[in-house]
Amino acid sequence: MQARTPSESKTILTDLVLPSETNPLNNLFGGELLARMDRAASIAARRHSRRIVVTASVNHVAFNKMIPLGTVVTVEAKVSRAFKSSMEIYIDVWIEDRESGICSKANEAIYTFVAVDEQGTPVPVPQLIPETDQEKERFNAALRRKQLSLVLAGKMKPNDATELKALFT
Ligand SMILES: CC(C)(COP(=O)(O)OP(=O)(O)OC[C@H]1O[C@@H](n2cnc3c(N)ncnc32)[C@H](O)[C@@H]1OP(=O)(O)O)[C@@H](O)C(=O)NCCC(=O)NCCS
Repeated sequence: MQARTPSESKTILTDLVLPSETNPLNNLFGGELLARMDRAASIAARRHSRRIVVTASVNHVAFNKMIPLGTVVTVEAKVSRAFKSSMEIYIDVWIEDRESGICSKANEAIYTFVAVDEQGTPVPVPQLIPETDQEKERFNAALRRKQLSLVLAGKMKPNDATELKALFT
């Protein structure tokens, strides 16, 4: 299977914040942003694997900035590492200043997707070759995050999480 680069899975979704998508403070509702990120991440995972993909886990979400009604929001998703059947997807969320047009980072998240066949059984995915410094940094830390996610889900014994343990020894 031919390895792919993160740029081959890069997915960008740009959309406005409409009144029906806000909380009582007139900022974007968190669940709406989660859905937008899930959509972008699933397209990135599909572009990398060219298979059916399902969300296995939301590993990390940081809602660092409020996103007011009317804001133009861009969700950018790329595969940050591929394992056997699972892929870590890193998502950066940008908001655009109306007058200057300058984009600033509002939030980020990390999702795990698994490629499956028509019966929902996991299938292998191509490996990922990171290119930029940021892609290499995200790639290198991804195994630690996978182990943490599996330990928290009760799918891995803490003792087997060698990469995680290495952080503390
Ligand atoms: C995700 C799913 C396919 C995993 O199936 P499974 O029987 O647990 O399969 P496995 O144990 O072989 O795991 C498959 C891969 O997922 C990874 N994985 C499973 N749970 C994970 C978690 N919580 N965090 C990170 N990775 C996870 C495994 O490590 C494995 O990765 P690898 O093949 O790259 O090493 C299955 O749980 C599923 O279909 N879940 C529902 C998905 C869904 O409907 N999502 C939308 C929710 S509304």
